[in-house]
Amino acid sequence: MQRPKLRLSALVCSLFAGLLFVGSAGAGDTVGMTPASQAEGSFYLSEGMGPLPSSHPYGGAEHALNATWGSVGEPLLRLLPRYSTPNGFELAFKDVESIPEVREISNVVCHEDEPIADPMGLSAVNWVWGQFITHDIDLTTTQNGRSPGTSAESAYYHIPIDDPWMNPHGQEEFALRMFRSVYIPDTGTSPDNPREHPNNITAWIDGGLIYGDNAERANWLREFDGGRLKSTSSTTGDLLPIADYATEPNAPKMSFSGFNSQTPYIAGDIRAQEHIALMAMHSLFVREHNRLAALLAEANPSWTDEQLYHTARAIVIAEVQVVTYEEYLPSLGVILDSWSGHQPDLSPSVSNAFATVAFRVGHSQIGDTILRLDENREVIAQGNQNLFKGFFALENIEQDGGLDPVFRGLAYDVQPAADSRYVNDLRNFMFGSPGLGGQDMCSIDILRGRDHGVPPYVDYRNSSLIGLGPANNWTDITQNQTLVNQLSSVYLNISHVDAYVGMMIEDRLPNSSFGPSMTAIWKDQFQRIRDADPSFYLANDALAEILDELNRTRLSDIILRNSDIQAIQCDVFFASTTLDCLTPRTTPYGPSKNLTSESSAETKTCTGCCGDPDYEAPPDGCVACACGSEDGWLPSPALYVSLAAVLIAAASHSSSDEEDDC
Ligand code: HEM
Repeated sequence: MQRPKLRLSALVCSLFAGLLFVGSAGAGDTVGMTPASQAEGSFYLSEGMGPLPSSHPYGGAEHALNATWGSVGEPLLRLLPRYSTPNGFELAFKDVESIPEVREISNVVCHEDEPIADPMGLSAVNWVWGQFITHDIDLTTTQNGRSPGTSAESAYYHIPIDDPWMNPHGQEEFALRMFRSVYIPDTGTSPDNPREHPNNITAWIDGGLIYGDNAERANWLREFDGGRLKSTSSTTGDLLPIADYATEPNAPKMSFSGFNSQTPYIAGDIRAQEHIALMAMHSLFVREHNRLAALLAEANPSWTDEQLYHTARAIVIAEVQVVTYEEYLPSLGVILDSWSGHQPDLSPSVSNAFATVAFRVGHSQIGDTILRLDENREVIAQGNQNLFKGFFALENIEQDGGLDPVFRGLAYDVQPAADSRYVNDLRNFMFGSPGLGGQDMCSIDILRGRDHGVPPYVDYRNSSLIGLGPANNWTDITQNQTLVNQLSSVYLNISHVDAYVGMMIEDRLPNSSFGPSMTAIWKDQFQRIRDADPSFYLANDALAEILDELNRTRLSDIILRNSDIQAIQCDVFFASTTLDCLTPRTTPYGPSKNLTSESSAETKTCTGCCGDPDYEAPPDGCVACACGSEDGWLPSPALYVSLAAVLIAAASHSSSDEEDDC
């Protein structure tokens, strides 16, 4: 397994930084610069708080001025008009003879020999959260099986005869099929009435992927007892509920591009079974909902199931919003204008430029392995999860140690940079081997843009939203000569560069994962979803009593409250071994485990090394530094054990990696 080089140096440096910053504490106390988890018990239970009203109606028709805004089935918004074709529905660039085939572009621009680690040290939590949010705000379905009475339209992408990955036997005329997207009936009849595509879920960040976007699905997911959501209990913590279609043929269906897991775990969104990390995030929020419902029920024995359910649901939705706006977006360098209240004239609708182009950049941030780590941040006996082998493979979650190893692994791992490169698991054999269902995600992303008639990159950068002006030379897009050479080798004309390709290779803004066009489209989308939402957590008076606590909530809190993980970094969006948030929390899974009894690591402490650039570690090594008691503290033995274990893990990983010193 090829690991990103950044990992170890980030890990060792941050460990020492962590040792410098943590205060005197024992396992079970909150330590660190940003104490995130709070006193045991009653998160969000403000004394005398009444039940919260239902927040965000299923289906999304919640806007007072325009009930279709953000609702299920609303057309994806166009920031720029559809690429004009004589019939109003043909693929963009169909009229351009010299337009390169998408696989040709993918082979040049998206091929990756070795992943490049994210330069800001973003953790793999980051991409999983991105996918989680995608599945809350947009779903563009394809026509296969969904166009009764008509045959599904296809768009094929040709695989070159000399394509070493997808056409090893040099087949002539080899092409893979992509089904075209479902479109709004009666659109696409002429250039004046171009084809438009529905968003099949609500545009709001409303937890639809947890609760469902219609009452039927939402009701199936409920226990109707104690406000709880259904779940599957396991010795390693609750998982999503499993449907038994034999006895319940009308149980909600799941599908991602036509694929399913053998074990039919059910969630609010149909795509949740795709891999273990996505499934983990879904399960986490079902656990959080049920944890809240149980606490609320205990404090308010007279509340009905309905009151408990809607109160817990409103809090969970607010949490998803807080994590997105306070952690996820800032971690990527997407800095929004300050929130200045609900703006009733604004539509939240998801744009084609976002769902079909800009948000897909997350596909380049995915690594080929989902790490599975124990509390010492060592790989568990069952090993890591290979992405390709793990697609829809959810059969052995309990035997594989549950979801805790996955969360630790995601937070520990530095994800690949947001760029144009995709791992082979996505670019050459997504959901199957070539010829056996295997697809190229990069080709599909570009082709989906053409399917939706997305105009070329130059039109976006020249638009008033982005305001970069025209691109006359390749170097107007990027100063990276390799990328310039690659681009100019496939596109004969700069004005035909697909929007997605141009945005992926644009030079990055400072402290950002993205270039200016991508950033502008992300900003536009996330600001509109936020500002148009009358129930956004900052605008929602019903949440006023718990607003401070909501504002302080971090994803690390939610992980710690709902797992047996003992320590994790407070900001899980950046890879770190500074495990500065510990676990004072009550969970439905019994008392916390004793970390010290789990760790077999032997602590050897050296004095005088902290922060001293000239300090030379003794040959037999020390696993922790004591910094003297000048500042009146020394980490407690229990804390040393946990940090020591991490350093030992770091040392054992380092043997196979060449790394920079910190
Ligand atoms: C292993 C992880 C992932 C896999 C296997 C995956 C796979 C897919 C597939 C098969 C599609 C449908 C493509 C089409 O037919 O047009 C899709 C759509 C999409 N993906 Fe991913 N994806 C992953 C992670 C992500 C991440 C991390 C992000 C963003 C941060 C993301 C953003 C999107 C978006 C915006 C769409 C379009 C959604 C829609 O409107 O239907 N995906 N993905």
